[in-house]
Amino acid sequence: MKNFEKTILITGGAGFIGTHLVKHMVRKYPQYFIVNLDKLTYAGNLQNLDDIAGSPNYHFVKGDIVDSNFLHQLFTQYTFDGVMHLAAESHVDRSIASPMDFIHTNIIGTVNLLNACKNAWQDNFSDKIFYHVSTDEVYGTLGDTGLFEETTAYDPRSPYSASKASSDHLVRAYFHTYGLPVKISNCSNNYGPYQFPEKLIPLFIHNIKQNKPLPVYGDGKYTRDWLWVEDHVRAIDLIYHQAAVGKTYNIGGFNEWQNIDLIKTLCNIMDAKLQRPAGSSEQLITYVKDRAGHDRRYAIDATKLQKDLGWSPSLQFKEGLEKTVDWYLTNQNWLEEITSGAYQSYYEQQYSHR
Ligand code: NAD
Ligand code: DAU
Repeated sequence: MKNFEKTILITGGAGFIGTHLVKHMVRKYPQYFIVNLDKLTYAGNLQNLDDIAGSPNYHFVKGDIVDSNFLHQLFTQYTFDGVMHLAAESHVDRSIASPMDFIHTNIIGTVNLLNACKNAWQDNFSDKIFYHVSTDEVYGTLGDTGLFEETTAYDPRSPYSASKASSDHLVRAYFHTYGLPVKISNCSNNYGPYQFPEKLIPLFIHNIKQNKPLPVYGDGKYTRDWLWVEDHVRAIDLIYHQAAVGKTYNIGGFNEWQNIDLIKTLCNIMDAKLQRPAGSSEQLITYVKDRAGHDRRYAIDATKLQKDLGWSPSLQFKEGLEKTVDWYLTNQNWLEEITSGAYQSYYEQQYSHR
């Protein structure tokens, strides 16, 4: 193998954000060797990475972060300089139906990775980085005003957010107790290509295309702060390379939308793209039973990231939504492959009783 400047392990690189991050790192840093470790759950899709799969600085390994023996072997085989940890169970509704998968991967899997790094790096932590990619959901829910800051107290309210909060605490514990060089970021809702169609935007694009009902939870007035996925990836790159060890950064789009307003905007875009009469997709909106423990509002204060590292979001939301819709309409094979098989039974279980 050629001499590379650094070898970096990215976990969860076949998922939504991981796909964008792996492509970014492989292309931008030919001097780095990128190892992508992914279990390939329902959410992981190796085809996403076809265009970089043959790159000399990229290698894929199929494996499970819950398996500590496997991780030990991987860390014996490679000398990693850094880890970007994204592998997780990520969908709130699935965490309500099956919490244990979230406990295993998000908590045990993260501790296994921390232990693998601590053991492999024990003699020398200098120039090493363990970067933990986390979520704004750890902060709980906001009322009508206020923003999540890095100092906001943790108050997770779903099995998903509780498992992510737990992993954040463990990452900080390894920093304080063992001196492991960690960095953490907590990001708001991402959107863009390659997102699995269980999440709001791709699910609704898929349903509009198929003229299926659009299941709006509760009163539809829940608020999320949306960020173009490549802006998240740029932030991760900046924090990995430039933030001080031990720091946490919030990442968000300064872009709050009530679900129902977002959905109506998406309906208008889809009507235009599909050349349907204006207003036809909105007819598909169906109010359904609310998500249990549904967090009312998330909104991120990302000024620390702006001030310290000069980051800001690049895209206006409507432009990003148009690009997202264009991608899903151009890549219908991707959507069709992913929504055949197991997806059907998930959809049936999730929505038939609402
Ligand atoms: P995703 O569900 O699309 O992808 C997760 C990936 O992890 C998949 O490829 C899956 O195969 C892999 N994986 C799952 N369990 C594994 C295991 N035990 N071992 C190895 N690999 C495993 O998730 P995403 O939306 O890309 O999110 C990535 C990370 O970013 C997660 O940690 C999530 O909590 C965090 N995050 C996501 C968002 C968002 O809006 N999507 C926002 C903030 C933070
Ligand atoms: O805030 C960051 C988080 O954003 C990430 O940590 C999670 O991994 C990611 O899944 C996302 O969580 P949300 O629960 O906010 O995303 P989701 O797309 O599931 O839902 C967005 C909003 O839309 C939420 O208020 C619930 C609502 N919703 C969702 C679905 C799937 C509906 O009204 N109907 C639906 O069918």
